[in-house]
Amino acid sequence: MGIGVLGKYRAYLPVSDSTPMITLGEGDTPLVKSNRLGAELGCGELYFKLEGCNPTGSFKDRGMVVAIAKALEEHSVAVMCASTGNTSASAAAYGAYTGLPALVLIPKGEVALGKLAQAMAYGARIIMVDGNFDVALKLVRDFTTKHHITLVNSVNPHRLQGQKTAAFEVSDVLGDAPDLIFIPVGNAGNITAYWQGFKEYRAAEMTTRLPRMMGFQADGAAPIVRGHPINNPQTIASAIRIGNPASWQSALQARDESGGIIDAVTDDEILEAYRLLASREGVFGEPASAASVAGLIKTVNQGLDLSDKRVVCIITGTGLKDPDLAVSSVQAHTVEVEPTMEAVEAVALSAAG
Ligand code: F0G
Repeated sequence: MGIGVLGKYRAYLPVSDSTPMITLGEGDTPLVKSNRLGAELGCGELYFKLEGCNPTGSFKDRGMVVAIAKALEEHSVAVMCASTGNTSASAAAYGAYTGLPALVLIPKGEVALGKLAQAMAYGARIIMVDGNFDVALKLVRDFTTKHHITLVNSVNPHRLQGQKTAAFEVSDVLGDAPDLIFIPVGNAGNITAYWQGFKEYRAAEMTTRLPRMMGFQADGAAPIVRGHPINNPQTIASAIRIGNPASWQSALQARDESGGIIDAVTDDEILEAYRLLASREGVFGEPASAASVAGLIKTVNQGLDLSDKRVVCIITGTGLKDPDLAVSSVQAHTVEVEPTMEAVEAVALSAAG
């Protein structure tokens, strides 16, 4: 049985004697070494951090377990969040696990099917808002100011505390911090949390250096890159369809302190990376996650030499979250045959080369 994020990194987290040590088995996710793409891109070493292996299929569980534990400690009666889908799935799961009601506001028609299915199955109270994520987040912030219900979006500081543990894990497995982290940016909490984690580990002398933080927004939802909020953000990567990120300033700080960048990748670049990641590496991430790999490809094509670098791409959520997109955007190698050996041989032997 795993001890989870609270147990493993207790010394770095806001845990007191009265914090319930709950876990659904979050954290300790695989750091997989690239077998093909890294060499093709000329990276010294390339790794994928598979955050889709968390209990609800995204990195959100790391922060949610801390936020829910603290909510329980503070005798909260319910939790609430706005979400493009993953935060709501996670809040719903940890709410179900602990008996704390979860209220989730989601932009109507904009949440991937797998995520909606999760919130439904875990029994959250789902409130569909006829507006985008930014509108939903504003409503939730105002609501939780007015009512005694705990906000569990990443503006809740306990969320980022939990999420920073991914930086610890990467460092623990590699023996030191990597040279570069490529990471998708939506509400900008995760890039903030990773940077916080790397800085804390460095200060605790668990590592000897700090990585450059390379953040990527989707081109149609790139407020940080453009320098102003986007009213009607659009991208195929619905998880990061966000026009006014809550952690905007701390993302800029992570970028500047680390000597990194925050740039944008187009939907075509995201989709290409999404397909490559699955078909060339066996890693099925959701489209938002593929923005990290799209960013890596873009940066290499622009001439960044990574030949002596250790690079980690954060694959923030599993591809199973968004099955519609996989089915509609990937050219499947499917043929129909008669149920005979001859018919199977005719197609199978040619496919096997
Ligand atoms: N990748 C995935 C799969 C996400 O779900 C999110 C954010 C991000 C990346 C971006 O992380 O917001 O910390 O910059 N999802 C939020 C949600 C907004 O509601 O689930 P961020």
